[in-house]
Amino acid sequence: MDIISETKSKIKDVLNILGYEDDLVLIHSSSRPELGQFQYNGAMQIAKNMKLNPVEISKKIVEKLNRYDCFENLNIAGPGFINISFNSKYLIQYLNKIQQDISLNIKKYPKKKVFIDYGGPNVAKALHVGHLRSSNIGEALKRLAKLVGNDVISDVHLGDIGRQSGMVIYGIRERFPNLVYFDDKYIGEYPKESPVTNEDLEKIYPEISLRAKEDEAVMEEVRNITAELDRGNKGYNHLWNHIKKVSIDNIKKTFDKINVSFDLWEGESDCYPYINDVIKLLQNNNCLEESEGAYVVYVGEDNDKFEIPPLIVLKSDGTSLYATRELATVYSRIKRFNPDEIWYVVDNRQCMYFTQVFRSLYKSGIVDNKTKLEFIGFGTMNGKDGKPFKTRDGGVMKLENLLDEIKKESNQYLEKEGIEETEKEEIANKVSVAALKYADLLPNREKDYVFDLKKFSSLEGKTGPYIIYSCIRIKSLLKKSGEDNYKVASIYSKTEKDIITKILEMSIVIDSSYRNKTLSDITEYLYELDSLYNKFYSENRIITELNEDKRKSWIAISELVYKVNKILLDTLAIEIPEKM
Ligand code: ARG
Repeated sequence: MDIISETKSKIKDVLNILGYEDDLVLIHSSSRPELGQFQYNGAMQIAKNMKLNPVEISKKIVEKLNRYDCFENLNIAGPGFINISFNSKYLIQYLNKIQQDISLNIKKYPKKKVFIDYGGPNVAKALHVGHLRSSNIGEALKRLAKLVGNDVISDVHLGDIGRQSGMVIYGIRERFPNLVYFDDKYIGEYPKESPVTNEDLEKIYPEISLRAKEDEAVMEEVRNITAELDRGNKGYNHLWNHIKKVSIDNIKKTFDKINVSFDLWEGESDCYPYINDVIKLLQNNNCLEESEGAYVVYVGEDNDKFEIPPLIVLKSDGTSLYATRELATVYSRIKRFNPDEIWYVVDNRQCMYFTQVFRSLYKSGIVDNKTKLEFIGFGTMNGKDGKPFKTRDGGVMKLENLLDEIKKESNQYLEKEGIEETEKEEIANKVSVAALKYADLLPNREKDYVFDLKKFSSLEGKTGPYIIYSCIRIKSLLKKSGEDNYKVASIYSKTEKDIITKILEMSIVIDSSYRNKTLSDITEYLYELDSLYNKFYSENRIITELNEDKRKSWIAISELVYKVNKILLDTLAIEIPEKM
């Protein structure tokens, strides 16, 4: 068990004996490190509930805790804060344990099955920075959920249906009208290869999308094709499958670059077999009502602070909509996987829509109360003008272009000497991905933030390059030391003690990060840890230290810092290159 959970359970036992109640028993990093390494602030709440004096309560808790032989100092500050410091013997024992297996420094949760929906790219359309945020945050949350002991299933939830299909097919038909896909009388086999490449798609979609906006006749035809495809037109469907494959291959390549992967590559269209069941459930539970020529689910509740409009689920002619497919997708996920929780990592702007969807799902009984649905919203990545990040000529910034720009910027400080060309490329890729991902995970998830290329790719400050550079330096120190049998034997200085406290804090950070789905806790923590370590590194000559115990202890601490970095960077899906 991690040291924080162990201490929690000691406090719990003591509270039990004393007849005090605190469900959570939260242990915090200390706000006054001179008084203790950690803090327990529960006495104030207990006092409030029991109408007693908080300092008296803290005194009683401390008196009982002192019977354990792991504390060096327990003291009470202010209205009843309990400051906690562990003694060296206990700390060293613990450090030696987690040096073998750093994952012992994590609080584990009872296993749940979590289904995560993130990424959400659209077939035939380029990935943009919004998809980047969803993929980045989703991937890290997936890994975090696994780290604390859950079973996790991830689904990319492709946008593989809708008007973009009509647009691309329209564009292809205009370019190559003689293809068999457009011949209604064609009865032979359809070609195995796609008539278009991804580069073609990247041109066709934006072109037709623009033209359809300006020319109603084009739009009308796009609508017709979309409807035809939906009705099962054979040629269109064959062509669309080609387009899907080409587009998915490309999306996979891009996701690969940013270390994002999925268990399931399902799309919106995979829910079709379940739509009828869902409509029946909605009907049987009296959820479908007619309104202005459509069928809706009323989801407003009496104590809503603002109006939650009804969710439109069927057009008057009975055709399904985006929301219908959303409900059917959930129905299918529950039926096939029976998850305890479903998480949606989506842009904040979709908050209202998901409120409507979740309420419809519970109201109709498609989801029962045992299954938790969670909306995990994120803010927008903005340009310096405070508006959503655009290319120089005002277009939507594509993820690929963004990566290229960062790569150009990071290239300047990469080591030029003694590194092979091919290796250079790989290093530049890893550094730029680290810069991008770290910067994206640094602000509070729900806040908008300004994308600042120079700042994010700098080697100084809270940046991906700073973190991975720190890691590379420790790794090369470990290698240079040539030492193999080392562990922490003693704690020699305050800086070391501070680093050790930080290492223990890892379990608090992972725990709060998981509970609140805030990856910024992890990125901030990594910066604090590495800054402390870098201070220690510059103050001491670790490898050449003559006192053997000291040298070995220092190397062990260095390795621990590396291991903490590594497990957290793995969670954020950031790779550490060999050199840079
Ligand atoms: N494809 C959508 C988009 O590009 C995102 C999908 C989000 N997930 C969901 N289940 N609706 O905006």
